[in-house]
Amino acid sequence: MSYHNANNQNYSTQNLNSSIDDNGYRTPLVQEKPRGKSTSKWLKFGIPIAILVIVGLVVGLVVGLKSKKDSSPAAQSSAAAAASSASVNSALQALATGRFATATNSLYMVPIYPQVTDTAVFTTPTFAAAAKASLTWPSDTFSAAAPAATSVRPDRPRLIAPQYKWNVLASHIAADPYLTYWNQSIFGNATEWYNDDPIAYFNDGGNGILDLARRFKQRAKAFSYAYRMTNDTKWVDRLWVEIQNVAGNTTGGFGPDPVDKWNSIHFLDTAEFSAGYGIAYDWLYDVWSADQKSKMLFTLNQYGLSFGVNAFSNGTIGWWSTNTTGNWNCVCNGGLTLASLAVLGDDTTGNAAKLLGLTVNNAVQNCAAGPTSDGTWSETQDYWYFGTTGYAEMTSALLTATGSDYGMINDAFSQTGYSHMYGQGPTQLFAVGDTGPNKFSSTANSMFFFASTFNHPELALYQRDQYDAPDPWSMFWYDASVQGAFWDGLPLDRKFDNEIDQWVSMRNTWSNTNGTFLAMKAGMNQGRQTHNDLDCGDFVIQALGHTWAGELGDGNYNALDYFSNDTQNSVRWYYYRKMTEGQNTILVNKENQNVLARPTVLGYGTTNDTQGSSSINNVAQGSTAFWYADITSAYFTDTSSLKRGIRYINNRTQMLVQDEITTTSSFQWRMHTNATVSVSSDGTSATLTIDNDKMTVSILSPSSGAKFSTSDAVRFPTDPIPPEADQPNPNVTVLIIAMDAGTYSLQVLFSPQWTDGTPSVKPPSVAFADWTLTSHDV
Ligand SMILES: *[C@@H]1O[C@H](CO)[C@@H](O)[C@H](O)[C@H]1NC(C)=O
Ligand SMILES: *[C@@H]1O[C@H](CO)[C@@H](O)[C@H](O)[C@H]1NC(C)=O
Ligand SMILES: *[C@@H]1O[C@H](CO)[C@@H](O)[C@H](O)[C@H]1NC(C)=O
Ligand SMILES: *[C@@H]1O[C@H](CO)[C@@H](O)[C@H](O)[C@H]1NC(C)=O
Ligand SMILES: *[C@@H]1O[C@H](CO)[C@@H](O)[C@H](O)[C@H]1NC(C)=O
Ligand SMILES: *[C@@H]1O[C@H](CO)[C@@H](O)[C@H](O)[C@H]1NC(C)=O
Ligand SMILES: *[C@@H]1O[C@H](CO)[C@@H](O)[C@H](O)[C@H]1NC(C)=O
Ligand SMILES: *[C@@H]1O[C@H](CO)[C@@H](O)[C@H](O)[C@H]1NC(C)=O
Ligand SMILES: *[C@@H]1O[C@H](CO)[C@@H](O)[C@H](O)[C@H]1NC(C)=O
Ligand SMILES: *[C@@H]1O[C@H](CO)[C@@H](O)[C@H](O)[C@H]1NC(C)=O
Ligand SMILES: *[C@@H]1O[C@H](CO)[C@@H](O)[C@H](O)[C@H]1NC(C)=O
Ligand SMILES: *[C@@H]1O[C@H](CO)[C@@H](O)[C@H](O)[C@H]1NC(C)=O
Repeated sequence: MSYHNANNQNYSTQNLNSSIDDNGYRTPLVQEKPRGKSTSKWLKFGIPIAILVIVGLVVGLVVGLKSKKDSSPAAQSSAAAAASSASVNSALQALATGRFATATNSLYMVPIYPQVTDTAVFTTPTFAAAAKASLTWPSDTFSAAAPAATSVRPDRPRLIAPQYKWNVLASHIAADPYLTYWNQSIFGNATEWYNDDPIAYFNDGGNGILDLARRFKQRAKAFSYAYRMTNDTKWVDRLWVEIQNVAGNTTGGFGPDPVDKWNSIHFLDTAEFSAGYGIAYDWLYDVWSADQKSKMLFTLNQYGLSFGVNAFSNGTIGWWSTNTTGNWNCVCNGGLTLASLAVLGDDTTGNAAKLLGLTVNNAVQNCAAGPTSDGTWSETQDYWYFGTTGYAEMTSALLTATGSDYGMINDAFSQTGYSHMYGQGPTQLFAVGDTGPNKFSSTANSMFFFASTFNHPELALYQRDQYDAPDPWSMFWYDASVQGAFWDGLPLDRKFDNEIDQWVSMRNTWSNTNGTFLAMKAGMNQGRQTHNDLDCGDFVIQALGHTWAGELGDGNYNALDYFSNDTQNSVRWYYYRKMTEGQNTILVNKENQNVLARPTVLGYGTTNDTQGSSSINNVAQGSTAFWYADITSAYFTDTSSLKRGIRYINNRTQMLVQDEITTTSSFQWRMHTNATVSVSSDGTSATLTIDNDKMTVSILSPSSGAKFSTSDAVRFPTDPIPPEADQPNPNVTVLIIAMDAGTYSLQVLFSPQWTDGTPSVKPPSVAFADWTLTSHDV
């Protein structure tokens, strides 16, 4: 094996021995041109239409002015009264386009909703509402009496977008503002790529050529889509150049090795190239000449399918096919499946049929087990994007091409869209563990597939406002007969109970980026494809449009032994961002947590508030939620008890983090923040500032002897030295309470400083055993 990663470590042996998922998503050196995060595509496309139809919508609108931080109760109740013509216009414009979000927040790329009450528009989520019934997809005339993965529909395309959907797509686009915008956006990219050079070959070592494969697949999708929407063969010709290029048939060649051009050692690359070939072959089947098709078949077999067949018996390239429930299994099986379905019948080598006999069963055993029973993607919230994209492409293609999912669709996937929604706060994901640097073709658009598959319209209503919604897949997965506001009737809180993940999500609104959000996890420190941190008890807090307690994210994926394994002595846990020290939890004796942790959730309470129709959510008086867990098992024998929990105070405008601990070692309460931190002279409170916004953090208990201190987010000098340097954490401060051995109830109150005068309160001190929904009323 001559392949070595950047650290000269044998990469394939590493994967084989550990059966873990490195996924190698390192920051690419070859990258798409940045797409100008701050440019609002909404405004670019939306406003002209809005102005024309604005008049019709005026009646029935009660428009709220956004005061500076308007998700606090006082601001919200005064909102309607303070309406100004500027905010009226912006709200009306958004609604008049038929799209709910007015723009995308430039820092976090989350949708910004007008703060208005409009019960006529913001209705209960539903499919095929009377007014939109004509936008329902027609039914497919193909159905298989005895479905088999090797028995495909008679017509083309087979993959994801059968002809009966293309037949009505233009009329759906004309009638639906989301489809209109996505179609324009796909053409926008296609035009940009049309004028670009073919993808230049570059192997970055650790990550292989995955980014090139995904760019190729994006182009295959976009050019094929553009041709089918226009009949203009310029798109076909341009795609042919790309197809030749990745076949290595243009000047300069392509690939790491003349016999293995799609880099089978990093099989994600092989799978994504194969998927791109499959889409191009299938979607443009009627346009390619016989010669072009035979060349594509040759190249796909040579560099994709034949390696795919070998992967199922060769652990070096196919380690992902054995007991690997993460994103690798979904992406690798998915790519091989799309390609095989595309060429089945034309492929004379037998590879396509052989692969369909392997990939489907393998994905049902592995990929389909990607989410835990509560729907959480066990590899982390961020890997959910990679895994569910591969899953949805494969499952959707099997359904359209052969009429069955073969067991890919299961209860866990019916919940996974919710784990995605609840894992996203007003600004950021609850991004525990590794986060994977770039997403490229991975999006959250599997939400559209889940919405229709499981009849959960709110998942589609949620995703359609997201920045990553424009995508050829969305055009076929989105059911434009959907209607309503995703938040109408949606509970504010949810707990996720599977023993692997155990986490909770709480908020005061679904539709205001200035809202409050709390999330905490217990869960296991293993069983997550080595993408987790040693982070039982970790929490995040968002409010006022900022993250106040946040995550550090990935370390360097190419650092030696970063993915070695998840045993106690693994070098992975020497890296600051992965060790307990780098998390927002309790650190005992400056030691990492126990990898064998098996916490139990002890308490969960919620006033069960759901948001109403309005995007201005006023929580009811007394609205609250709490959650606490016994995380003693995450520590060693010096800690005989550690319970940790969070709750809302003061109608969800303040938050409390509590620990009840007995330990014979000294310990630290730690929290990472991007804020600048100023500790009071007596040490019992700290003021956190981000931009001009402030959060006061106070130690309520113990009433004496506990003081805040701060440090940079760097390792202790006494820590074991990792083989390579930690990532720097610029501008991150650790807020610390350092305590001696003993028994304590440590209570830390977070009080966002609402500029509208919503007052902060000081709640009573209450032991976990006595926590109720009213125990902290003042
Ligand atoms: C959030 O607060 C900022 C001021 O800090 C304000 O400009 C913005 O409009 C608010 N956002 C919403 C959705 O109300
Ligand atoms: C899709 O977008 C392109 C580019 O803006 C436009 O020319 C075309 O008419 C759109 N298709 C439909 C069906 O609206
Ligand atoms: C357009 O290209 C950008 C940059 O590669 C990508 O992030 C986005 O998802 C693409 N959108 C579509 C509709 O292809
Ligand atoms: C493309 O050609 C097909 C077949 O001739 C035709 O049915 C379809 O309407 C054409 N589409 C466009 C956008 O011209
Ligand atoms: C690439 O070139 C090889 C060797 O000439 C040929 O066999 C193959 O069909 C070509 N593939 C494509 C996609 O043009
Ligand atoms: C496994 O596949 C790799 C990559 O193609 C190849 O180098 C290796 O020889 C294969 N191993 C076996 C046992 O066939
Ligand atoms: C895969 O998992 C099953 C069930 O846990 C186990 O019996 C089997 O030994 C595992 N196979 C490998 C190769 O680890
Ligand atoms: C700091 O801000 C960045 C960018 O917004 C974010 O990704 C990160 O999670 C934040 N870190 C903390 C510790 O809050
Ligand atoms: C886990 O990885 C470490 C290196 O980080 C290695 O020393 C140890 O032997 C590995 N343990 C197992 C069980 O593979
Ligand atoms: C909230 O809903 C749960 C589940 O239906 C129920 O057990 C609990 O009693 C409810 N709590 C309140 C305060 O209504
Ligand atoms: C909730 O807010 C109301 C005013 O809106 C206030 O009177 C009440 O004390 C608050 N409840 C709690 C628990 O702080
Ligand atoms: C850190 O803060 C400095 C000074 O405010 C700023 O220039 C820099 O961009 C920040 N770095 C990061 C990574 O946020």
